[in-house]
Amino acid sequence: MASSRGEFSSRIGFVLAAAGSAVGLGNIWGFPTQTASNGGAAFVFVYLILAFTLAYPAFMAELLIGRYGQANAVTSLQKMSKTTFQKRFAFIVGFSGIIFASLILSFYGILAGQMMSYAVEPVIRTVGFEGIADWVVAGSLSRNLLFTASFMCLTLYIIRKGVQEGIEKWSKRLMPLLIMLLICLIIYVLTLKGASLGLNAYLNPDFSRILEPNLLISALGQAFFSLSIGTSTMVIYGSYISKKENLISLGAQVTLIDVSIAFIAGLLIIPAMYVAQAQGVAIFAEDGSLISGANVVFVVLPSLFNTMETVGSVVAFIFFVLMTVAALTSSISMLETPVSYVVERHNMERKKASTIIGGVIFIISLAIISNIEVLLGLVIATATEYGQPIVAMLACIFVGWIWQRNEILKELQQGNADVENSFFWKIWPWYVKFICPTAIAIVFIHYLNISI
Ligand code: PHE
Repeated sequence: MASSRGEFSSRIGFVLAAAGSAVGLGNIWGFPTQTASNGGAAFVFVYLILAFTLAYPAFMAELLIGRYGQANAVTSLQKMSKTTFQKRFAFIVGFSGIIFASLILSFYGILAGQMMSYAVEPVIRTVGFEGIADWVVAGSLSRNLLFTASFMCLTLYIIRKGVQEGIEKWSKRLMPLLIMLLICLIIYVLTLKGASLGLNAYLNPDFSRILEPNLLISALGQAFFSLSIGTSTMVIYGSYISKKENLISLGAQVTLIDVSIAFIAGLLIIPAMYVAQAQGVAIFAEDGSLISGANVVFVVLPSLFNTMETVGSVVAFIFFVLMTVAALTSSISMLETPVSYVVERHNMERKKASTIIGGVIFIISLAIISNIEVLLGLVIATATEYGQPIVAMLACIFVGWIWQRNEILKELQQGNADVENSFFWKIWPWYVKFICPTAIAIVFIHYLNISI
């Protein structure tokens, strides 16, 4: 079966694809917003520690499950199971991840569609169609419909082509583009008045805030979302990695890229917020907190771009293309998760499976769009605040408690012969067994406390 499945053709292909999945709206939008609302540099500091000490081990557990099973999430987990009970448990964990990946795509497609609409708006305005340009950013039902559908079609186009010709090829094209656009924008924004104040807030931690429970919890949730953990997505990407590769270093590279891009995005967004404030856009309240309604991407930045006259449209265009590209390399990984399941478990042809599943997810997006004020927040919370932590915790429990230690070692030794003496092997098994599930449980219980 393995030969008929896709496989990444190169190490760089995998790293860019997995980093593409990880780097998305969560990095460029979520991380800087969370940073600005949680005391700036203190949040960055905690985030970096949690990303490497808690999210990376959980991320490795998911990659490892997939690389071992060389199959979709459910089949891979079932290959590790011995008893009927374990096989049922495997089904629940793998399948829930697939459902949450699909649910995330259903709202992610709407947000990414909005990014696309903001990217085409300056172009339409420049060619003189003012009326259409106004409609494009007005946020109407029909606008959302058109752009969500367009974004889903792009995602579908890539996934129908498969692992090497679709995911790998496009990640290799889009990821360098994303990094280039990001750097151009940072250089530009840092030359503007007010940017240095932003840099200061971003890089000078107020250590007194570091132990605030909300800060810890938001940082951990953000790290999990950013590494795409708890959605079976990294299981499926792991399953496309060749047995010759050193999984530990590949996983570390992806984590490093993900965290670095979030950090670099902060160098753009936080100074941009202070530049906007210097231009008279209201962003921070007297006490330094973000004022409500100061949505960084759809309110703050567009009003900043507006103050820049002609160059503003170019910058706006580049910024929203950047967001769309980041979203696309993530959305393909979300769609691949259910598609690989249906292709392998129900023997359906890839193109057909992609179209059917893409269609079903689009219908869910339509339902959300029809009552966006209520449903958008609800679906986001269900998938990211409840779904992801629970599935991630169960996946860690699976690896830590059900999978046998010598089998884990055997799997890690493929592509890394002396893993047994490594620092990773001394620490990581304990992490997935005890520390990760406990930490995730704490975050989850805290969410429950906040929302009840
Ligand atoms: N990690 C992506 C981001 O930061 C989101 C994502 C979540 C992608 C779950 C795949 C699965 O935007």
